[in-house]
Amino acid sequence: MTNDTRKPTTNDAGIPVSSDEHSLSVGPDGPILLQDHYLMEQMANFNREMIPDRQPHAKGSGAFGQFEVTQDVSAYTKAAVFQPGTTTDVLARFSTVAGESGSPDTWRDVRGFALKFYTTEGNYDMVGNNTPVFFIRDPMKFQHFIHSQKRRADSGLRDHDMQWDFWTQSPESAHQVTILMSDRGVPKTYRHMNGYTSHTYMWVNAKGEKFWVKYHFKTDQGIDFLTDEEADRMAGDDPDYHRRDLFEAIKRGENPSWTLKVQIMPFEDAKTYRFNPFDLTKVWPHNDYPLHEVGRLTLNRNPNDFHTEIEQAAFEPNNLVPGIGPSPDKMLLARLISYADAHRARLGVNYKQIPVNRPIAPVQSYSKGGAMRMDNVSDPVYAPNTKGGPKADPERYPESATWSADGEFVRAAYTLRQDDDDFGQPGTLVREVMDDAQRERLVSNVVGHLKKGVSEPVLQKALEYWKNIDTEIGARIEKGVRS
Ligand code: NDP
Ligand code: HEM
Repeated sequence: MTNDTRKPTTNDAGIPVSSDEHSLSVGPDGPILLQDHYLMEQMANFNREMIPDRQPHAKGSGAFGQFEVTQDVSAYTKAAVFQPGTTTDVLARFSTVAGESGSPDTWRDVRGFALKFYTTEGNYDMVGNNTPVFFIRDPMKFQHFIHSQKRRADSGLRDHDMQWDFWTQSPESAHQVTILMSDRGVPKTYRHMNGYTSHTYMWVNAKGEKFWVKYHFKTDQGIDFLTDEEADRMAGDDPDYHRRDLFEAIKRGENPSWTLKVQIMPFEDAKTYRFNPFDLTKVWPHNDYPLHEVGRLTLNRNPNDFHTEIEQAAFEPNNLVPGIGPSPDKMLLARLISYADAHRARLGVNYKQIPVNRPIAPVQSYSKGGAMRMDNVSDPVYAPNTKGGPKADPERYPESATWSADGEFVRAAYTLRQDDDDFGQPGTLVREVMDDAQRERLVSNVVGHLKKGVSEPVLQKALEYWKNIDTEIGARIEKGVRS
């Protein structure tokens, strides 16, 4: 007689098994039998537990929560998720960019800030970073950029020489590199950083009027950071520090929150603004476009199964709902096609049927078949039809997030405007936003980074790059590197 009331183990077909510990063999000492399909199931499933890492943003953490609208922005967007009084369930995933899924959380890197809003009009994904800008402005360079941040072909090692070689050959990186080398390059925890769309998006209101917007999710916990020294120590002491912090804070009921504020640019302003407002390497100064509060994001539920709920989460910037659309930012436009392709490769064509990726809005599409399909398809399987299948409703859902374009097909940089330069905004950040202590840490972080394997002539180029950002900071970095 046993008093153990635990449920009996079964195999994956639900059939009770007779042992958790012993394989089937010919006598206790004999060979194991090929007919032990339960042993085979265990070995085979184990061999297939790992799925490919995301390329990039492989190491991350996530949690669920809600987004609550606190201010009326219906004059700017008709999106259901941003209407007054609306609360929407959200999944958030924060990540580092260059490290693999087991890499330390506290390596200096940009952090991903990805949100999936389960709205009544379909899933809306905001796939941003903890920085308001990016390293490049043309998607042709993205793959090269990520290669330069990851591992060499020969040694399989990461390489600062390769990183600075790319950055100095790409002066448009100066703004993001300045932020990366500042305190913001190692947030204290995921709770202590802001999130930004970085890109400009379009909002469309119920009257069809269009606006350009940038989102800023401001941390309610306050910005905080780790110094290089603290980060290096933590990379050894607790490589999963940020993952642990998020999980444990929510477990304790200390639910982190962020206030969403947006900058709004009238549609026509973009044509004549003093620099290209769609250039991802630039911010819109707050003096020109102040922040307007929209609502609050709160995370309050941890995943139960990290694999199914976080690892298999698929964020895609193309998930834009009525009232929200893209802008002419070339980086964003490329991202609209890259992510779904990555998900099909990593998770399979029916990745949107994995529970964490399922919309709460009804799916009435004509997709059918494919590996691992879960939902039954019913006839008719084609459109147009006279058989009662779904029918697009352009009156209710017009293609409204649009702009006009004209010109020859070219491979060219954006047309330059009066204030389009690569070094102005990082210079302002260093001179006008940072205080003395922040500038000192910036110099020390850059010197430390450059001293780890950056060789001539890349080193000389890096010193010139910093002098272009700010002459004095450049000189201090040179002194530190050459001493
Ligand atoms: P403001 O003084 O109005 O804004 C400065 C901003 O800088 C604040 O949002 C602040 O964020 C942020 N900040 C402070 N330290 C850092 C850092 N180390 N790295 C990145 N951001 C930091 O000035 P402007 O709007 O005129 O912008 C001046 C410069 O500030 C820009 O060139 C840009 O480099 C930077 N910046 C501007 C942003 C914008 O959207 N306008 C957004 C973020 C940075 P916080 O509110 O958290 O303190
Ligand atoms: C992840 C491509 C620029 C934020 C990814 C992934 C790809 C990718 C393929 C992995 C997706 C997956 O397997 O799940 C690109 C391309 C870019 C670009 C082609 C430019 C042309 C950016 C920018 C941002 C960004 C500018 C931020 C503003 C993210 C985030 C993730 C990610 C947050 C992780 C999402 C998650 O948590 O699952 N990117 N990216 N990317 N990217 Fe980008």
